[in-house]
Amino acid sequence: MKYLEGFNVAHFEHCVLEWYARCGRIELAWRNFRRDGSQSYEVYVSEMMLQQTQVSRVLEHYYFPFLQEFPTLKSLANATQERVLKAWEGLGYYARARNMQECARICVQKYSGNLPRDTHELQKLPGIGAYSAGAIACFGFGESVGFVDSNIARVFYRLFAIQKASTKELFSLANMLVSTHSPFEYNQALLDIGALVCVKMPKCPICPLSSMCKGKHSPQLYPHKKPRARENLHLHLFGVYFLRGKKAHIALCQSDSALYFGLYNLPQTTNPKILKSKSNDFPLPTHIDTLKHNYTKYAISAEVYAIKCENLPQSRSILACIDTRDSHKAEFFTFTEIDTIALCSLAKKALKLLRSIT
Ligand code: ADE
Repeated sequence: MKYLEGFNVAHFEHCVLEWYARCGRIELAWRNFRRDGSQSYEVYVSEMMLQQTQVSRVLEHYYFPFLQEFPTLKSLANATQERVLKAWEGLGYYARARNMQECARICVQKYSGNLPRDTHELQKLPGIGAYSAGAIACFGFGESVGFVDSNIARVFYRLFAIQKASTKELFSLANMLVSTHSPFEYNQALLDIGALVCVKMPKCPICPLSSMCKGKHSPQLYPHKKPRARENLHLHLFGVYFLRGKKAHIALCQSDSALYFGLYNLPQTTNPKILKSKSNDFPLPTHIDTLKHNYTKYAISAEVYAIKCENLPQSRSILACIDTRDSHKAEFFTFTEIDTIALCSLAKKALKLLRSIT
């Protein structure tokens, strides 16, 4: 391996482990489980949640309630998809939750309700890629395996002044460097160094690896990055409702788009003209506000409208004009009911506005 010529691996391992004992986040819940496989499910849940999501957010709202509701792979396998999505609501990247349930079902059938410890077997499960397989094997079962996520990759890019490397190269590097004696602490330490020290504007003066880092004089060069802009998406969301007694009944559609699959959303369109052309026969939409929302690769700008209808049939006729795909399947909910169903974050923001005016 070209990067390791003249590199003192033993000294590197010593610096990483010494720093972890002093400055690592050793108190994190998922770092204090048994490492014999008997708590690999708890580790698995943490790793799935921590992909794309900050530690503080996972800990504040999601990790413990999820484990309380689904304490084993078996309970997750037997739950309804609605319950799982509700527990995941707000975390984003909902494919993770659906994959976890699918994974749990396979583990119940194939591995008596346990996760396998072998990284190759783990990678055959839905939602588990090379990083997660390594992390589960190491943190759940104590295996000495190396792996790379975006944080660890950034540490390696800078440490060895690499501008570009394939995932395969980064994984081989990780496997050559991994500690055989304390793989758990070593890998957790690299995650922490990547997340806390070797960040976008790196804190080189406090870095345990600075004496051996080839990239420390111009860290912004490593890795070389192409600029990436978010794609603009202009949406129109409609709060179509009618009153029964004093209670508003609002139309929501369960999304079948890949991004929001299974979550409830307001009826929406990218083309508001659909509605204007029919507006003689219908109550006019009232524009409430414009919401800005970033989601995955999209910068969404959403116009939110309220449409107060006379009754259910009129609401249905309006819905037929809005979204050609979802809205004929719309269901009506009161605000009390809305609190119990899984919504996408954009719909949640829009419904907060609508709640204040209905
Ligand atoms: N991000 C991904 N895995 C993590 C872990 N085990 N601890 C902290 N942050 C993480």
